[in-house]
Amino acid sequence: MTSTGGELSGVRVVLTGATGGVGQAVAERLAHGGADLVVLGRRAGPLEELAARLGARSIIADLGERSFAARLLERVKQSWGAVPDVLINNAGFFELALFSETASEAFERALAVNLRAPFELIRACLPDMLARGSGHIVNVGSVAGRRAFPGNAAYSASKFGLRGLHEVLVEELHGSGLRVTWIEPAAVDTPLWDRFDPDRRADLPSRAEMLDPGAVAEAVFFAVAQPESVAVEEIVLRANPAGRGERQANAG
Ligand SMILES: NC(=O)c1ccc[n+]([C@@H]2O[C@H](COP(=O)([O-])OP(=O)(O)OC[C@H]3O[C@@H](n4cnc5c(N)ncnc54)[C@H](OP(=O)(O)O)[C@@H]3O)[C@@H](O)[C@H]2O)c1
Repeated sequence: MTSTGGELSGVRVVLTGATGGVGQAVAERLAHGGADLVVLGRRAGPLEELAARLGARSIIADLGERSFAARLLERVKQSWGAVPDVLINNAGFFELALFSETASEAFERALAVNLRAPFELIRACLPDMLARGSGHIVNVGSVAGRRAFPGNAAYSASKFGLRGLHEVLVEELHGSGLRVTWIEPAAVDTPLWDRFDPDRRADLPSRAEMLDPGAVAEAVFFAVAQPESVAVEEIVLRANPAGRGERQANAG
């Protein structure tokens, strides 16, 4: 990895969920910093538009598929001759339903996209990263991976699980030269909320109360742009609006 002085020139990054609100902001911020990006998503149109705009490579992949990680890493290695310097596990599936109304399929999808896919991707990268003694894994978690909110059974299970994976990695990789970062936003104003119309629901934060995706992108950039001698293990982001009410806010 050639990151020096906060510049990302020559740093090779794989980013999942690049077609989403947070992913697009992260892709733009890292591309602006000079990173060499491979962006992933399912929707070909927005993904290819983003890749063309940023000079990135794109790979369409459904992270719900069990066998995608090995295939993906093979394609990345064909392009770069190596696994990425930075893997950002950002893709996410969000469901809002009371526990008793959570469908098994939604529970399985949350675990597959939010937990199993990062596990498979990290595992596919680790041998080569360990052999070269460098590499950076960024996991985008959520406040719902630390606190329980009503309606978040599937999502919380996956994000608590991802935080568990992250913390094991921190312990196991200490002294290896690899870095692991947990990015933990509260609610962010992205299309993730579109299905739930938060501005019309008293149990959800309004769009105006949410973080801007650019704040998450800045946090990711900060972690990735540190000199290799510095590991940013965790960044917790919460909105700080003046006069925010006391109501319980679901978290995203
Ligand atoms: N928004 C929030 O309030 C909030 C708060 C805390 C944490 N987060 C976390 O931030 C991350 C990004 O969320 P966001 O707000 O940007 O959500 P978003 O706008 O809904 O975007 C979700 C992204 O994940 C991708 N994705 C979902 N299912 C996938 C699958 N099966 N295979 C491949 N890609 C899949 C989507 O790809 P396609 O669109 O191409 O299908 C999209 O790029 C997630 O991990 C989320 O949990 C969000």
